[in-house]
Amino acid sequence: MADLTVLIRQALSEVAACGDLAALEEARVRWLGKKGTLTEELKALGSLTAAARPAAGARINAAKSEVQGAIEARRDALARAAIEGQLAAGRIDVTLPGRGEEPGGLHPVTQARLRIETLFRRAGFDVASGPEIEDDFHNFGALNIPPNHPARAMHDTFYFADGRLLRTHTSPVQIRALQEHGAPLAVIAPGRVYRCDSDMTHSPMFHQLEGVVVGEHISFANMKAALHGFLQAYFERDVAIRLRPSYFPFTEPSAEVDMSCVFCEGRGCRTCKHSGWLEVSGCGMMHPNVLKASGVDPERFTGYAFGAGIDRLAMLRYGVNDLRLFFENDLRFLRQFRRFSA
Ligand code: DAH
Repeated sequence: MADLTVLIRQALSEVAACGDLAALEEARVRWLGKKGTLTEELKALGSLTAAARPAAGARINAAKSEVQGAIEARRDALARAAIEGQLAAGRIDVTLPGRGEEPGGLHPVTQARLRIETLFRRAGFDVASGPEIEDDFHNFGALNIPPNHPARAMHDTFYFADGRLLRTHTSPVQIRALQEHGAPLAVIAPGRVYRCDSDMTHSPMFHQLEGVVVGEHISFANMKAALHGFLQAYFERDVAIRLRPSYFPFTEPSAEVDMSCVFCEGRGCRTCKHSGWLEVSGCGMMHPNVLKASGVDPERFTGYAFGAGIDRLAMLRYGVNDLRLFFENDLRFLRQFRRFSA
């Protein structure tokens, strides 16, 4: 019989030298397979004397299990190294910047709103806001629209079960701003408003711009100058305006503001329905009841207010002819506004 100690040392060094699982399997077959070196040693036991066989058999079996153990340990090590290799190769660096990074852009309605805010701030106005979920008092009652007033029917209001509602206009911010800061005051309040109405020119959510100026000698002429100045600055050109008598419960007298059409300069086109004029805002002198409801003394203070559609101002400035385009979030449409700045 061969010298087992030498065989074991040789087997262990071959196993240790195996670089992959295939080489290791070959070594296993060579040493422990049916015709493997150590298996042959066991077969050779038959040629020994009966007395020598048990001890020799035990030594060979011990050698076999030592080599077997070494093979299993090597197999584990190779398998672990293979997995670690795969992990290292497939590792991603989450700190690297992504590919195809595109700069975002502001929505055209947001651009219009920011531009409007800048222009009014420059003219000395503050920017105020109020809740989109309003109570009846601020949305209607304080604005001189008592229960059962026919103006309520025009507002297509979304109501909550508890009597609160989604504000139908930004006018409630007039009341809130005056309650909070008192007179004198000059604020605009841009924001979302909601009405149960949807077609080509109406969206259930849209944006309004409220303006309110209260002071000791505020006049209708001040209002006209402010609106004219704003429209010229916003459209960056000379425009004519005209005020048509109208009615709002919260103003007296009330008017609609028309502006000469920015598309045809007043000659008549589809946008202005061939009238040469675009309706852009409602306005008027604040009703004494509204000042009273806001805690302002109508004997001492007067004020004007106006309400315009921001979506419409954005459509007119950017030449968009369908309101719904603003709310569909079609990127092909929105991308065209990336280059504009507020
Ligand atoms: N709140 C009105 C509406 O939504 C718009 C409006 C008209 C606001 C005249 C005003 C105003 O402040 O004076 O239809």
